Amino acid sequence: MKKIIIGMAVFIVFAISGASVYAEMPGPDSGSLWNYITQESPYQNWSFWPDHQGMQPGQAPHGPFHKVFVNDLALNSSKAPVQHGSIEVKENYSKASELVAITVMYKISGFNPDDGDWFWVKYSPDGKADVAGKIAGCIGCHGTRASNDFILVHEFK
Ligand code: HEC
Repeated sequence: MKKIIIGMAVFIVFAISGASVYAEMPGPDSGSLWNYITQESPYQNWSFWPDHQGMQPGQAPHGPFHKVFVNDLALNSSKAPVQHGSIEVKENYSKASELVAITVMYKISGFNPDDGDWFWVKYSPDGKADVAGKIAGCIGCHGTRASNDFILVHEFK
């Protein structure tokens, strides 16, 4: 009986830890990514780049104001390219400080090696993905700084 109980306990621990490994990071899917950044690891609790804190003025096509939140994997990347699993979430605001869109860059190992492995998404504020994937428009602009890993608001030295 004791052996069975120990066996069951070991099984449960494995099942739980195994499940948490799978739940860790989403794949290249806008729905699971939205769930991850709003439920599992709410991006509002992440950091800003040291040289790009809080609300900042921005340019077209993203709108006049924005905040860029970065997860620890991005923040702790001391040089370009950043580590796989890095995520940047950009809140885009209108002139009247209304949240109009959320644009995301998520670096997924093997997703798109030719263009920095970034998975690009533009969400409306309610989480609907307008575009997602290897988006030529996003890559076209951000690719001008491929040596900075397609990142425009933070300069790697
Ligand atoms: C016309 C050029 C252009 C296009 C197209 C574009 N971006 Fe950007 N993006 C910028 C600029 C410039 C910034 C710097 C911040 C700002 O001015 O808003 C930026 C910043 C960002 C950031 C903050 C992280 C960083 O430093 O790069 C994210 C995330 C982002 N864009 C996602 C996207 C996504 C997703 C798309 C496609 C749906 C996209 N961008 C299309 C020019 C562009």
